Amino acid sequence: MAKVTRDFFIGLSNNRFLNTQAKKWGFSLGADKFVAGTTVESVMKAVKQLNRQGISCTLDNLGEFVSDKTEAGQAKDKIITLLDTIHRENVDCHITVKLTQLGLDIDQDYCIGNMKAILNTAQQYGTFVNIDMEDYSHYEQTLEVLHALRDHYNNVGTVIQSYLYRAEDDLADLKDVRIRLVKGAYKESEDVAYPDKQDIDQNFLKLAKQRLLGDTFTSIGTHDHHIINELKAFVQEHHIDNDTFEFQMLYGFRNDLQHKLADEGYHFCTYIPFGDDWFGYFMRRLAERPQNINLVVKDMFYT
Ligand code: FDA
Repeated sequence: MAKVTRDFFIGLSNNRFLNTQAKKWGFSLGADKFVAGTTVESVMKAVKQLNRQGISCTLDNLGEFVSDKTEAGQAKDKIITLLDTIHRENVDCHITVKLTQLGLDIDQDYCIGNMKAILNTAQQYGTFVNIDMEDYSHYEQTLEVLHALRDHYNNVGTVIQSYLYRAEDDLADLKDVRIRLVKGAYKESEDVAYPDKQDIDQNFLKLAKQRLLGDTFTSIGTHDHHIINELKAFVQEHHIDNDTFEFQMLYGFRNDLQHKLADEGYHFCTYIPFGDDWFGYFMRRLAERPQNINLVVKDMFYT
């Protein structure tokens, strides 16, 4: 049953018609619990509040599946404006982008051009830019774009998903690149990804430990307290410097645990999505955790 629910919401997240329509609806279905408004002003409020509590942030100006250059160009311009605002407001945060928002499905070189414009501005401000990892059909291309950018910029990194069999090899190739490690949010074939949660979790722990023993900064992106507790013990046992890693969670999830980790002295970063293109992101969150559906139902009936 859980798998059927997950597949249903992942299917909705990929539905281009609904993604486009949802931009016109404005926030609904309780999305505002996980998405910090539609404007830069609204997200800045959330960032400042978290910064005051010792938490840094990464901002995702939501967007994906863009298929025309006008829209991709507008997304690039919005992200550059966001970088200007982060710099002007002097807040503790970096940014996260999706390559399909910046034209990867149109033309890879065009997408690289948009990324270069973003990275030029980010470099000027000393801001890090992380590239989200999307579904496996974009995986090779994302790594190719990353490598092309790494020839010129060192303020760019990406995400590795522990559900992929190849994750360990790719992490070895990317040992000098700042990486966010996650389990993986898309529905993938058993040919490329572990189907069982237990294997995905085990691989996550194995890869996180390998990274923590290395020299390059790693973001541990999970809400899973079992994994977090095991990694805290591992870090202590191996005298790993807290400055070489951070924990990351998504905005609106496990707020108590987010603050607890920051209070314990770990670097903590909240991933904050904002913008009107919220539908795909929100459906993937419902797929991951069916309990989130309760929030939606409450929102529909009690507001
Ligand atoms: P998982 O869903 O496996 O849950 C494990 C256990 O943790 C649960 O059984 C429960 O005990 C506990 N738990 C989890 N959530 C809880 C909650 N809200 N309240 C109480 N208990 C809870 N994916 C991707 O493919 N590409 C990407 O670029 C990213 N980026 C990204 C950034 C960040 C910061 C995060 C946190 C995640 C991503 N993801 C992602 C999503 C990721 O791949 C994964 O789908 C989700 O994080 C869900 O997996 P978890 O490890 O968080 O817990």
